[in-house]
Parts: sequence; C-alpha cells; structure tokens
Amino acid sequence: MRHFLNLSDAGADAVAAMLSDAIDRKAARAGWPKGRADADAPLADHVLAMIFEKSSTRTRVSFDMAMRQLGGSAIVMEAGSMQLGRGETIADTARVLSRYVDAIMIRTDDHAKIEELAAYSSVPVINGLTDLSHPCQIAADLLTLVEHGKALPGLELAWLGDGNNVLASLIEAAGLFGFNIRAGVPQGYEPDASFVEAARARGARVDLVRDAREAVAGADVVVTDTWVSMGQDHAHNKLAAMAPFQVDERLMGEAKDDALFLHCLPAHRGEEVVDAVIDGKQSRVWDEAENRVHAQKSVLLWALEKL
Ligand code: CP
Repeated sequence: MRHFLNLSDAGADAVAAMLSDAIDRKAARAGWPKGRADADAPLADHVLAMIFEKSSTRTRVSFDMAMRQLGGSAIVMEAGSMQLGRGETIADTARVLSRYVDAIMIRTDDHAKIEELAAYSSVPVINGLTDLSHPCQIAADLLTLVEHGKALPGLELAWLGDGNNVLASLIEAAGLFGFNIRAGVPQGYEPDASFVEAARARGARVDLVRDAREAVAGADVVVTDTWVSMGQDHAHNKLAAMAPFQVDERLMGEAKDDALFLHCLPAHRGEEVVDAVIDGKQSRVWDEAENRVHAQKSVLLWALEKL
C-alpha cells in the first residue's frame, strides 16, 4: 500500500519521478481549459475522498482539480459534518471509506490521526497537512524550483520564521535531494528534531541560526510561511519573537542576485513578508500555488500505482 504521509514514504527516486511526470503533464496541457481531463485520463472512474479538520483553499481546490484532470473525481468532507468527531473512530472511518473510494486525503492537526487512518485503510492515504508535515506542499515547491532552473543538489535554501510543518518537509526534502538549509528561527520555535537528524544523517547541512541576515546570506531561494495560522489569535509574544525574521527587500538583498522567493500561502502580508517582496520580481508564489495541482496529480498517480 502506497501511503504518502511524508516524502520519505515515496523516497527520492519516486519523488523525482513525480516531478518529471508533473513537468510533462503540465507542458502537455498548456492552454487547455482547466477542467478538461489529460489525454490519457489515467484515473478515470477513480474517486478521492478528502477530509478537512482545518480550513483550506489551495489544498482543497488543487486536489479536486487534480482528480478532474486525471479523469476522476473528488468528494470533500468537513470533519465537523461527519460522524468522525461525534463518536465514530478514525479506524472505523478508514475501514468504511476504503470500501467506497480509491484514495483518502486528510488535513488534520494531529499526525497520529493520519497514521491511524493509514493503518486501518485498505486504500492509499495522502497527507494534506498535519501538525508535523506538509509533503504535498513541498512537492509543489520542488517542482517550482526545478521549473525555474534551480538544480536541487547543492541548493542553498534559507528559511525564515517558525519551525513548522512546512519547514519539516523541506528539511526532509533536503535529505532526499542533497540540498542545504539555513533556517533562521527564534529560540523555542525550532523544527521537529527527528526531521533535522534524518536529513543530516543523509548528508544534508541543516543549520539553525538566530540571525535573519546570516540565514539568507548567499541563498539561492528564500522561503517563509505564516507565523500564525489563519484565523488563530496573534499571540503578542510569538509575533515579537518572529518580527526580526520578516522578509523585506533589504533581507532579500543578502541572498544571491537571482534568488527566488517562495511562500506556500496564505500570507499575512506585512507580518512574515512585505508586499514589495511577495509581489516583487523574485517571487514565484503564484507558480508555487498553481503547482499544487500539477505535483499532486503525480502524487496521486504514484499512490495509485500508475507511476
Ligand atoms: N498552502 C496551503 O496548504 O494552503 P491552504 O491552507 O489554503 O490549503
């Protein structure tokens, strides 16, 4: 069973194959209506169930469009409107959904829950974001870097801000593809140590620094994310700790001249990034968002053993 809870579940060769497939599929449908299926419609008659315990714009729409373009369809469920959470267990939910659909995607604040879902599911389970990791986002980020001419081995990536689930999956990718990360994170907001140790064991350099300029110096790509999830309280002490890591034009000036800027979105403009950077010439955030569709098509094909 090919579950995709983290990038390592697929491994470097399979993720590289996904990126290659995504580039080919994206090129083949250039100029086509977005709702038209790819010529080979490889997931015709296949259905993906999506469970959302947390809000989403990109993950929800990009997975739905991915299934349509692959010739299949998707069912979207809010966890609050399911029996899950009203007493039905995640194990029973997995057993039942497996009888209906071909794959399950879940977004949850509890990584243990997706592991339990996968343990009891007889169809592939895909991580649409947990508190621990966000592998589908990083598949799209890698695609964006590659299509903009950045070779992954030896890439110098600077991260600014919270040591969150997005950074954890970037660190995992660094280990798989041989690139280096210098993460500017405040004390107390470090990324999950197991991801850092695993990437270092694979030979990646992962440095945690306290100074934003040190993190960005000479970088090929500068990446940040929201300091506070959309809709959550802006705790004053967290904002104060994060403030020195805001990405502005002066900080981007510390990176290489041809450095790119990525942000998985949604953004709190004026907090983690200023308008001049996210809307500036080095930003690739709209390509990054679009690439969620293309990368996830290849994730789905891999999970369903079509790749
Ligand atoms: N980047 C991302 O996962 O976006 P959504 O929260 O809108 O799905």
